Amino acid sequence: MELRFRLVSLFFLFLLVAFIPFNAESKCTKSCGLALASYYPHSIFKYEYDYVTYVSETRFRSRFVTGPQDIANYNKNVTTNTTIEESKYYIRLNIPFPCECINGDFLGHTFHYPVTSGDSYESIAELTYSNLVTAEWLSFLNVYSPNEYPNNGTVNVTVNCSCGDSHVSKDYGLFITYPLRPEDSLESIANQTNLDPLLLLRYNPGVNFSQGSGLVYIPGKALEV
Ligand SMILES: *[C@@H]1O[C@H](CO)[C@@H](O)[C@H](O)[C@H]1NC(C)=O
Ligand SMILES: *[C@@H]1O[C@H](CO)[C@@H](O)[C@H](O)[C@H]1NC(C)=O
Ligand SMILES: *[C@@H]1O[C@H](CO)[C@@H](O)[C@H](O)[C@H]1NC(C)=O
Ligand SMILES: *[C@@H]1O[C@H](CO)[C@@H](O)[C@H](O)[C@H]1NC(C)=O
Ligand SMILES: *[C@@H]1O[C@H](CO)[C@@H](O)[C@H](O)[C@H]1NC(C)=O
Ligand SMILES: *[C@@H]1O[C@H](CO)[C@@H](O)[C@H](O)[C@H]1NC(C)=O
Ligand SMILES: *[C@@H]1O[C@H](CO)[C@@H](O)[C@H](O)[C@H]1NC(C)=O
Repeated sequence: MELRFRLVSLFFLFLLVAFIPFNAESKCTKSCGLALASYYPHSIFKYEYDYVTYVSETRFRSRFVTGPQDIANYNKNVTTNTTIEESKYYIRLNIPFPCECINGDFLGHTFHYPVTSGDSYESIAELTYSNLVTAEWLSFLNVYSPNEYPNNGTVNVTVNCSCGDSHVSKDYGLFITYPLRPEDSLESIANQTNLDPLLLLRYNPGVNFSQGSGLVYIPGKALEV
């Protein structure tokens, strides 16, 4: 009798330990509205019309981006007629997008990218979306196997986001999804953003900011117009 009781207690203890922390970590309950994606194009665009319009129309259309002005609003020195040739350097853009709770499981937004011939999960992840997603993540989100890739239709491109953490600070409500690059470090990002490195680490626990890839979430600013 007593042994059975102990076994039953152990079983429930196991359930508690095994599932509660997991749920607390992975589930989301609500959306926070707005997030920003840090977009750093890999190659000079050669387009007839301007870069910000091109990006707004072909990659990041959402309820927050219906035209180029919606992107320009979040970027200093960028107007809707800024071309990448004019800028003479690669322009990093902050792109507004809706941060939604997807399937009650995680925060992100799914863009529907129209596939063109020559695209692959690698090219869409690394070039078109500038490492905001990975090829592995895209193959998880889409039914197409990399070998039978269509040259029409759309591909789900789900960009993750953050609504912050009230245990860290309530001062920040807008977060930038930032793909780490090889030249980045905790110090360089803290310097560029004027934020305390310890704050960045608390929002990204356990992340090595010098790892050269992967996403981090950086507190952003409100509309800069
Ligand atoms: C914006 O342009 C001004 C004047 O050209 C320049 O001083 C400033 O550094 C630029 N800011 C950014 C973020 O590029
Ligand atoms: C770009 O637009 C701004 C105002 O939005 C205007 O002042 C500027 O002259 C334009 N530049 C070009 C090259 O069209
Ligand atoms: C986005 O979040 C999901 C769920 O946490 C995770 O499995 C996936 O790897 C993340 N994607 C990227 C590109 O980090
Ligand atoms: C995109 O995601 C939706 C919802 O999960 C799914 O029904 C659809 O099949 C996906 N598209 C592709 C091309 O896999
Ligand atoms: C995509 O192309 C295939 C084969 O060429 C065709 O059967 C299919 O209907 C096309 N799908 C769309 C959405 O155009
Ligand atoms: C921080 O930024 C300033 C101005 O942009 C620069 O002069 C300085 O070298 C940077 N410091 C570090 C540690 O990167
Ligand atoms: C962080 O990543 C870089 C690059 O991979 C590596 O050199 C460094 O040792 C790592 N730092 C820690 C603390 O793991």
